[in-house]
Amino acid sequence: MIPLEFRDAQDKEDPNHGRHLRFLYDLLRERLDQASVNITHVKMPSYEDHVLFVEGQSGYEAHFVIVNEGDPTQMFATLYVTDRCEIGITVARSHQDKGYGRWILETFLSEFPGTYYANINPENFKSQKLFGSLGFKPLQYTYKLEGKTDVAAD
Ligand SMILES: CC(C)(COP(=O)(O)OP(=O)(O)OC[C@H]1O[C@@H](n2cnc3c(N)ncnc32)[C@H](O)[C@@H]1OP(=O)(O)O)[C@@H](O)C(=O)NCCC(=O)NCCS
Repeated sequence: MIPLEFRDAQDKEDPNHGRHLRFLYDLLRERLDQASVNITHVKMPSYEDHVLFVEGQSGYEAHFVIVNEGDPTQMFATLYVTDRCEIGITVARSHQDKGYGRWILETFLSEFPGTYYANINPENFKSQKLFGSLGFKPLQYTYKLEGKTDVAAD
């Protein structure tokens, strides 16, 4: 497995910051294509809005891009933590099912031990297995009423 390193997605001084932004945008598109990954129905933002969000990022404690230690222009995954201690992780589709998700979460949790939450789609069995095997326990079911307007998408 390629040795990976955590880089701060908000760090504008990072020589690969522009690449990070583009990579995160591509990951977002991949996620929106996967029905079993999304809980809320979210529209793809414009690239400009995406950049404003990542660089402004209120509500986030941390946001990492996971890169190849030997060649930081190669990017594999992202991990963020919100200010409500919710963890989100996405591995690029081309690198899923190779142990990276587990390695990234294990590394993060050993470096930053604490209490965390993960919101997982009930059909996302892989993610449930991953978080469950790392000690996360299910807390609640989230119900949705499909109304005439989609508040979550605005
Ligand atoms: C979920 C995700 C982070 C897992 O990362 P990954 O690198 O693909 O997964 P790994 O290769 O580390 O495997 C993790 C575990 O899932 C298991 N797994 C793989 N496919 C599975 C499936 N279809 N059903 C159940 N478990 C599965 C693996 O066996 C492994 O468990 P093990 O280590 O005990 O064998 C990654 O697939 C991803 O980014 N998916 C899209 C976004 C997403 O779902 N994010 C999580 C939202 S909470």
